[in-house]
Amino acid sequence: MSRYPFPVPFGWFQVAWDHELAPGQVLPRYYFARHLVLWRDESGAVHLQDAFCPHLGAHLGHGGSVRGTEIECPFHGWTFDGEGRNTCIPYSERTNAKARIRSYPTIVRNGLIMAWYHPDETVGPQWEIPELAEFNAAEGFSEPVCRRYTVHAAWQELAENGADSAHFRYVHNTEVVPEIEEYRAEGPHAVMRSSQKFPTPRGVVEGRIDVDNWGPGFAFTRFSGIVDTFLMGCNTPIDEDTCELHFTFTVRSLGDDGTTSSVGEAFVNEVHKQVIEDGPIWENKAHLVRPALADTDGPFMKFRKWAAQFYAEGVRDDRLVWEPPPPGTFESTMVPTEATASRKHRGKGNA
Ligand code: FES
Ligand SMILES: [Fe+2]
Repeated sequence: MSRYPFPVPFGWFQVAWDHELAPGQVLPRYYFARHLVLWRDESGAVHLQDAFCPHLGAHLGHGGSVRGTEIECPFHGWTFDGEGRNTCIPYSERTNAKARIRSYPTIVRNGLIMAWYHPDETVGPQWEIPELAEFNAAEGFSEPVCRRYTVHAAWQELAENGADSAHFRYVHNTEVVPEIEEYRAEGPHAVMRSSQKFPTPRGVVEGRIDVDNWGPGFAFTRFSGIVDTFLMGCNTPIDEDTCELHFTFTVRSLGDDGTTSSVGEAFVNEVHKQVIEDGPIWENKAHLVRPALADTDGPFMKFRKWAAQFYAEGVRDDRLVWEPPPPGTFESTMVPTEATASRKHRGKGNA
């Protein structure tokens, strides 16, 4: 029985941080309920492709190697280019034009490697991911801090948190319920503007949380008040029921590096604490098609209408209550699977 009424959505999704993939490197990935191979050729171009070699099915992410701008299969040495075309069969004079691997459009933006996924491979990118000054400036901002979580819940359940102003008080113990001033959607772009009171050891500070989403996989949040903090939150569906959440933070420089990084670290730890608090709710909640809302609840139904546009196969409508699987079906991993990484660690190891 399905956990959710939603299929895997389409959009741009983060599949790695730029610093995780050096030229010549090959990584196995599993997203969109598919086995994938992510590799960077020696010219620096990034490729995401279906994992299985069309010859006899070897997984190119396990033992495949980069040869210039091509990838070589570990099983019988066939090579494929970035478009997935067979370029050489080392023990034959000819190539096999039918041996083709699906390739996904990729971009490297804001320090993230992102791929376009749509269940129909003929449907190319429908919107762009903006370049953010805060993550591309040479100075004025702290080194980015990265966190990765695996959550046993659909991306939509995580994203719905943004529309849920009331939960901040009860799940995260914020002093007051943040006030959502505006929520609107324009195609794949959704905008949320809110004011918020931040609890600090020295009392409550007035602040703001402003969020811009471009599709299901990319949200840019600006926190202001205590310190200007910028967050890229990227949900990547592992399958219909599970997603990987990626956070990349930067803090506007406070003058000296030591203060900036300690204030930034405190902020990152607070957001991390919130995700860990949300985890058990997300993983164990039912998805109610017709929630019983208070008149002062956030814009849930507007959010759900916006989210529904990303399901190419439509949303299933044969049930009103979608429950989690029986206890013991999955083990919660709501702890960071990668504690921290940053540009300072570029090229050192992989997740
Ligand atoms: S399975 Fe890839 S070359 Fe044979
Ligand atoms: Fe939350």
